[in-house]
Order: sequence, then structure tokens, then C-alpha cells
Amino acid sequence: MRTGSIILAAGLSKRMNSATPKVIHPLLGKPLLSYSIEAAKAASDVPPVVVVGYAGDKVMEAIHAEVQYAFQNEQLGTAHAVMMAEPLLKGTVDQILITSADMPLVSANTLRELVKIQSLHDGPMSLVSILTNDSRGFGRIIRDRSGNARAIIEEKVATPEQLTINEFNAGIYCVKSEWLWDALKKVKKSPVGEFFLTDLLEIAVQANEKVSILQLENVEEAIGINNRVHFAEVEKIMRRQINEKFMLSGVTMIDPDLVYIDPTVEIGRDSVIYPDSYLRGNTKIGENCTIGPGTIIEDSSIGNDCRILKSVLEGAELEDHVEMGPFCRLRSGAHLASHVHMGNFGEVKKSYLGKGTKMGHFSYIGDATIGENVNIGAGTITCNYDGEKKNKTVIGDETFIGSDTMLVAPVNIGKNAVTGAGAVVTRDVGDGEKVVGVPAHVIKNKKDEEKEDDKSRKG
Ligand code: UD1
Ligand code: CA
Repeated sequence: MRTGSIILAAGLSKRMNSATPKVIHPLLGKPLLSYSIEAAKAASDVPPVVVVGYAGDKVMEAIHAEVQYAFQNEQLGTAHAVMMAEPLLKGTVDQILITSADMPLVSANTLRELVKIQSLHDGPMSLVSILTNDSRGFGRIIRDRSGNARAIIEEKVATPEQLTINEFNAGIYCVKSEWLWDALKKVKKSPVGEFFLTDLLEIAVQANEKVSILQLENVEEAIGINNRVHFAEVEKIMRRQINEKFMLSGVTMIDPDLVYIDPTVEIGRDSVIYPDSYLRGNTKIGENCTIGPGTIIEDSSIGNDCRILKSVLEGAELEDHVEMGPFCRLRSGAHLASHVHMGNFGEVKKSYLGKGTKMGHFSYIGDATIGENVNIGAGTITCNYDGEKKNKTVIGDETFIGSDTMLVAPVNIGKNAVTGAGAVVTRDVGDGEKVVGVPAHVIKNKKDEEKEDDKSRKG
């Protein structure tokens, strides 16, 4: 049995009240539609057909998955939308799974189960229903006295009595291919002017055909997104699922309701995430780290045993035992070697800080390469931009940069060097040299002076 799939994504999404079509609004950082594509892919043998219509160009631009597109130029209802896929699928598959772009929680497992049910029975169609007390505007499943499903009645056209039914249509179907295209032609315009796909059930029943219903146990799976309230609701459920997975794998969360982690993130064992923390994109966090409260980390790699308090990191790399915060900002290309300490109000961009280097207070380091165990005094700034281009600063191991030093790049400071408080360094400083003043000039160390004094006395 070859299974194809159709995802309906052409609707106007009026209830979103948005310039952007609903199906590409982001859900945990990914377009809504991408969730149905992934699930449909896992349950079918050929790339899914996505039916686009309203703002179709925007939808196609936002989706990078391997799919085929069908176009519904006028939104005449779900049955009409499915018809648009006929030229792409007719004769190529035995049965067709139909889902909607606005149901991101439907699992690949549920789809596979439905496909299996349909392949094993001889009726033309199977569908998914849910039992719940929350109607959410869903269509009702009408059953006869012996319990056989007879029809689906849309809420918009239901009688008060039908509205009391608590078995709902989840909007997920698997239909025999050759039967589908003929049956769609029999769907009549509803009283509200749309062609309802849900009429297929009645069409099958009238032809004395068998229809199977898979009742979903996990009602949450069938939550459809029609407006922004639903978006927030679904995102919360997804976040809860992600956080539970992390907690069960050994990550502590002080309050999981206030931790926002993208599905793409990795976190090692015994790390602790405090509230109001956002871990995004391609971020990897090692073991035994403490993150937050109040921290945003995006596309960054953090080693083991790091502590990051109230800081913002983007495209940064931290080795082990790095400590920072509160109020630090690491921008793209910041690389902090092990045991680096950054206190409050530090910014680092496109720079390497060597092992054990300390930068305690109020500093900007940009386009710099800094050695090991360097002390960067309070208020130190790399003046990396001359108004035209960015210039590099290099600082050797064990050097002491005095408070409020301005390093006017391009500039090289040697190893074991010293800059005095308030120095404005405009020229290179050699190994072991000490510079002070504005512009900074070399002065001798006390020890050196004493040695010279000794020499002259002896001489
Ligand atoms: C639909 C079902 C309803 C079910 C519910 C479950 C119909 C008539 N009703 O209602 O029984 O309980 O899903 O979520 O099918 N679309 C198009 N072209 C159109 C109209 C819609 O592509 O002309 C797309 C939409 O973009 C959406 C999907 O079809 O992805 C479903 O349409 P929507 O208007 O959301 O239907 P519901 O009212 O949710
Ligand atoms: Ca819907």
C-alpha cells in the first residue's frame, strides 16, 4: 500500500488578525506548518502535498522541507482544497492521509496508526475523533443507535441538540485514493457557502461503505490553532513536554513554567536552569552548569561547570568553569577559555580570552586576542573602531591592564606587561614593560630602578 499525504494550508486565517498567514507564524521558533509536514512525512511514502492559497508565496518562502505544492486560489472550503491536490496525486498512491496545517501536536504515531487502520479494512475511509467537553468549534460526529458513525456536522450549521454531542472530528483522515476523487465531486455547497470535506463521511455511509474511527486518547494532540490564544496554549504544552524531557534526563529546573527552551538545544546532566531563562537555536550546555535567573543564550556552546547569571549570549563559546554575570553580554565570536571570570557589565565581541583571565567590571573587549591569566581592570576598553574599520588588540599572558585603560587598536601588549590606571595606549607595549599616562609611555619598574641604583652605587 502506497500512502500519500495532503496538508491543508490555504485558509484565510481571519481569526489571527495578522498580515502574516497563520501557518507560518512561529511556534517555538519554527513555522506552524513545519510540524504537520514532519508528522505527515513520517507517515507517508511520498513527499506531502501542501495546499497553499492565501499568501501562498510567503508560505512557500518560509518552508524549506521537501514537499510538493498545490494551489487553491479561492478558499471555497476544505473539500475544495483537497481537490486541488488531485493532479499531483491521482494514480500515484493507493491511499491518502489528509491533515491540516494548524494542528501541530498531532504525532507521527497517530498518523501511522490511522494509515494502518485504513490499510487493514475495506471501507474507503478512516478518521480520527476525540471525546472531550471542550468543543473548540469542532465538527460533531453523529452516530446511529448501534453506534455507527453516520455524519459529521460542523458547529456553524449544527442544531442545538447536535451541539450537545461530545465526540468531535479531529480533522485527520485517511482515504482510498480512487474513491476520494470521485467522492469529492459529490460534496455539495454547505449553507455557509463552503464545500466541507467532512461531508465525505455521509457520502460513504450513503453508499453503504464502512468508515473506521480511531478515537484519540490524548485529547491534547487534536488542539487546532485558529487564533493567537491557541498559539500561546500550544506553545505552553510543547514547552512543558520539552522541559519534562530535560528534567527526566537529569536537568534541574527551579520552575519549569518559566524556562523557555527550543527543541534544538542540548543540556548536560546536573545542570540547573533558573527561571526566566531562554535557551535558543543551536545551543549546547554541558554538565553541572548553573544558568540564570534571567539569562538568554542563543546559538552558543557552553562547557561543563559554568555559571551564567543574568546575561545575554549570542554565538559565543565558553570552555569549562567559566563564570559570568550579572549583566554580561557576549556577542558573536566571543570565546572564553576555561576558568575565565567575567563580573558585571562586561561586553565581549569576536574575541578570545585565555585561560584564567579575569574581567571583573565594566569593560568592552572587541576584536581582541587575550592570553592566559590576564587581569583586565575595571573600565578597560578596546577602542577597536577608528571610524572606518575594526582593528585588533593582542594582549600577552599574565599581563595586568590597569583600571580605565583605553587600548587604541591596532595595538599589541606583550607578556607580563602592565598598564597604569587611566592609560591611553596608542603604541605597542613590549614584554614586561610598564606604561602609564596619556598617551601611554614606558616607565621603569621600581625593582628595575633599584637594580640600576645598585649598579651605579657599586660603580
Ligand atoms: C475543520 C473541520 C472540523 C474539525 C476541525 C478540527 C471542516 C469543514 N471542518 O474545522 O470538522 O473539527 O477542522 O480542527 O473540514 N483550508 C484550506 N482551504 C479552505 C478552507 C480551509 O486550505 O478553503 C485549510 C485551513 O488553512 C486549515 C484547514 O484547512 O489548515 C482547516 O480549516 P479551518 O477553517 O481551520 O477548519 P475548522 O473550522 O478548524
Ligand atoms: Ca482549524
